[in-house]
Amino acid sequence: MPYSVAVVVGSLRKDSFNRKVANTFIKVAPPTLTPEIVEIAELTFFNQDIEGNPPASWVAFKNKIKAADGVLFVTPEYNRSMPGVLKNAIDVASRPYGQSAWEGKPAGIISGSIGAVGGFGANHHLRQSLTYLNMPAMQQPEAYLGSLGECVDANGELIDRTRQFLVKFAEAFAVWVAQHAKK
Ligand code: FNR
Repeated sequence: MPYSVAVVVGSLRKDSFNRKVANTFIKVAPPTLTPEIVEIAELTFFNQDIEGNPPASWVAFKNKIKAADGVLFVTPEYNRSMPGVLKNAIDVASRPYGQSAWEGKPAGIISGSIGAVGGFGANHHLRQSLTYLNMPAMQQPEAYLGSLGECVDANGELIDRTRQFLVKFAEAFAVWVAQHAKK
């Protein structure tokens, strides 16, 4: 049985470079993984007042994360941190206290930016949350994809160099998930 991977994209932008990265990861992932994007756009803001009676969007998201064997985050950097929409998704699926959907799931992080730094700040702020959420996060290879605007060809596809990097990353992530998944 392959390992299911919830792919969470930290950008809601239609032409998001990070979504292109996520879609390419899905295409090149080895057959031991079945990655699928789990959308976060419909999640309303987390509010602790309603965590005992959560909206349908929270319940559906949480169930999808619970059902996954591993999680891959593919995210831009906003103001040297992760985008608020991604943090909101993390918060939503982490509550109520003691009932986190993230618990123990092996994770990977790819950060991508049009700038040179490749989303390092977002990547490492996200790692901080994953540590608390008890998600073993793959350390190597690291994935800070810089200058993403130059990594897309005229057809909107990722150039070969970036694709090849994702092949290597996906191979390593498949091993990581197999080592740490609970099933
Ligand atoms: C950015 N961007 C950005 N880039 C970066 O390298 N470091 C940063 O801190 C920020 N901060 C930032 C804040 C906000 C509010 C926006 C909208 C953008 C630029 C960012 O890398 C660029 O918009 C990417 O194209 C976003 O990723 P997607 O949407 O293409 O996946």
